[in-house]
Amino acid sequence: TGYTTLDPGFVNTASTKSAITYIDGEKGILRYRGYPIEQLAEGSTFLEVSYLLIYGELPSVDELAAFTTRIQRHTLLHEDLKRFFDGFPRNAHPMPVLSSAVNALSAYYQDSLDPDDPEQVELSTTRLLAKMPTIAAYAYKKSVGQPFLYPDNSLSLVENFLRMTFGFPAEPYEVDPEIAKALDMLLILHADHEQNCSTSTVRMVGSSDANLFTSVSAGINALWGPLHGGANQAVLEMLDEIKANGGDAKEFVRKVKNKEDGVKLMGFGHRVYRNYDPRAALVKKAADTILSKLGGDDELLDIAKSLEETALTDDYFIERKLYPNVDFYTGLIYRAMGFPTRMFTVLFAMGRLPGWIAHWREMHEDPATKIGRPRQIYTGYTERNYIDLGSR
Ligand code: CMC
Repeated sequence: TGYTTLDPGFVNTASTKSAITYIDGEKGILRYRGYPIEQLAEGSTFLEVSYLLIYGELPSVDELAAFTTRIQRHTLLHEDLKRFFDGFPRNAHPMPVLSSAVNALSAYYQDSLDPDDPEQVELSTTRLLAKMPTIAAYAYKKSVGQPFLYPDNSLSLVENFLRMTFGFPAEPYEVDPEIAKALDMLLILHADHEQNCSTSTVRMVGSSDANLFTSVSAGINALWGPLHGGANQAVLEMLDEIKANGGDAKEFVRKVKNKEDGVKLMGFGHRVYRNYDPRAALVKKAADTILSKLGGDDELLDIAKSLEETALTDDYFIERKLYPNVDFYTGLIYRAMGFPTRMFTVLFAMGRLPGWIAHWREMHEDPATKIGRPRQIYTGYTERNYIDLGSR
């Protein structure tokens, strides 16, 4: 049919107009609502950035205080929803546990499901931002067989998350301010990235008027794939494997170039960036300082740096304009903070949440929105006659 163009992977097709995040992939520029990522990483906080992405402007002192209080009031999970975690096997990956629990919010909080009621959208926004760290911490606690902690709302969102993750009931937990600050900065770097796979998924699901919880749950599932957010886990597994095999980065890069066993350099390459991912530059800098403070695995950091150096001077990577992406160095920091490898993508999901919410809301507020319904180029049989089972 004459009206259908084919663009596998939407390499050159805009699915929407958006005023949230600007990327110039050739120059390596990333801005949220016009503000450079470097300035936000340096001076802002994750909650402030969440506000900026969702409402379009930096909050005033009063607006931020009201936003923070609203979120702090909603961090508890319904007691029945807490028991929902009991049904999962202890060795479950925390990502399906996270997406299932987020989807289950639609069952437990039915008074905030109407996408056309602004008050309900506001309530589901608050609930998601507040409950996601609680759910993420419980997904971790479940995996290590430890008791769940109630949130302590005198703490900041990130401090509370660290305490619910690594603390124990009836034991005081001292949040390390260095760790809290570093994690907050990493969440800022992940907070939005325009029409990536998971955000496009959230918009697609939401375009059918599906509620915010269920749309975000779909985004979490899209994020889990190793080509997307799952890459942060895959990078550390790759580094661990290189270390176990003697630490030869050059040999690994050779294998990647020759496409041996389909092996890729995880944490490298990006659909949009044909230059150094600006987030990766910030993470690399943070990795150096944080690992020296927390005493991370220096050998792994050395392997990562040596992989980067080898790749960036190699024709295969130069010709294809492949540079480290945000996931290349994050895992090293998460491990130094004490997170197991399987939690890395959960941390990405926590960071990306405000972006998903902002896009879902932008889509709903846009009168031009239509249900997402791509066309296809049909390549099957045109027509043939049914043959009776006995005659086949
Ligand atoms: N290692 C080796 N070769 C690569 C890599 C890599 N990491 N990335 C791309 N290439 C090659 C690819 O094989 C292709 O070569 P050829 O032309 O010979 O077939 C060429 O570079 C172009 O790559 P592509 O797969 O067509 O590019 P894409 O835009 O479809 O894929 C990507 C982007 C991120 C999926 C891909 O670069 C990749 O698989 N990277 C590794 C996984 C990863 O780190 N993902 C995290 C992305 S950043 C965080 C996020 O937003 O999710």
